[in-house]
Amino acid sequence: MDGSAGTPGELEQFVEKTKAGRPGEGNYRAYVGPPGQYDFMGATQFRLATTLGLREDHSYLDIGCGSLRAGKLVLQYLLPGRYFGIEPNDWLIDEAVASEIGADLFRIKQPRFSQSAEFEVASFGQKFDFIMAQSIFSHTGLEMFRDSIAKIPAVMHDQSQFLFTAVTEHDTGRMPRASGAEGWVYPGCVRFRVREVMRICRESGLFAQALPWFHPRQTWFRAVTKRRFRLSEEQLAQVSGTVMFDPRFK
Ligand SMILES: C[S@@+](CC[C@H](N)C(=O)[O-])C[C@H]1O[C@@H](n2cnc3c(N)ncnc32)[C@H](O)[C@@H]1O
Repeated sequence: MDGSAGTPGELEQFVEKTKAGRPGEGNYRAYVGPPGQYDFMGATQFRLATTLGLREDHSYLDIGCGSLRAGKLVLQYLLPGRYFGIEPNDWLIDEAVASEIGADLFRIKQPRFSQSAEFEVASFGQKFDFIMAQSIFSHTGLEMFRDSIAKIPAVMHDQSQFLFTAVTEHDTGRMPRASGAEGWVYPGCVRFRVREVMRICRESGLFAQALPWFHPRQTWFRAVTKRRFRLSEEQLAQVSGTVMFDPRFK
C-alpha cells in the first residue's frame, strides 16, 4: 500500500506497520533507525539546521539521506533545486516518495540524488551551504570515516556548515571501537572518542566542535573550514535542542 488510498481499516494497518520492526529491518522506516522515533529524528535534524541558519535559498546535501525522514521536511522548506541526497539504497527514497512525500513535491522541488557508496560528494559539481550526515559515521570504520571526512572540504565554502553525528564516550551503550572496524557496519554501530573525531577533522582542514544539541543515542558535531566561524561559548549554550513534553526523551 502506498498510503494514497484505502479503507479506514487499511489505513490503520498501514500506520501500525510503519511503527513496527527493529532498526535495520527491511521497511523504509525501520531500516534507518527505531521506527517509533522516525518523526522525532527527522524533526530534530530540521530544527538543528534551521536553528543554525538554514534558509530557503540555501543548498543542502544530505549524506546517507535514507528514506528522507529529515529530507521530506527540508525539501518542503527549501526552494526548488536546493536539496541533494546521497543514498546507496535507493529503494528507501522510492518508498518514501510512495508513502510519505508524493510525486508532486518531487516534481516541484526537483531534488537530486546520487547512489554513491564512496561518499562522492563532489559528483554534483557544486558546493553546499549545509551538509548533513546524521547516523552515518556511527556505521563507518575508522578508515572509511577518515576517507569520507577528507572529501568534505572540497564541497564547502567559507561559511558552509557540516553537521554530523557519531557515537562517542558521551553516549550510552557498549559499541565496538571504530578503530577495530572496517568499511560500513550496519545495523550495528561503532564508537569514536570526541578527541579522535576532532583530530581527523583537523587533518582534513576542518574545525569541529561537539554540540550540546540533544540526540537520544549519539553526539552532534558541527565542522567549518575557518576557525573564526566556530561557535562561541555563548552560541553553543543556545544550541540545546531541548525536547519538551515527550517522556521518551527525558
Ligand atoms: C541510520 S541510517 C540514517 C539515514 C538518515 N541520515 C536519517 O537520519 O534518517 C544510515 C543510512 O546510510 C545509508 N548508507 C549505507 N551505506 C552508505 C554509504 N556508503 N554512504 C552513505 N550512506 C550510506 C543507509 O542506506 C541508510 O539509509
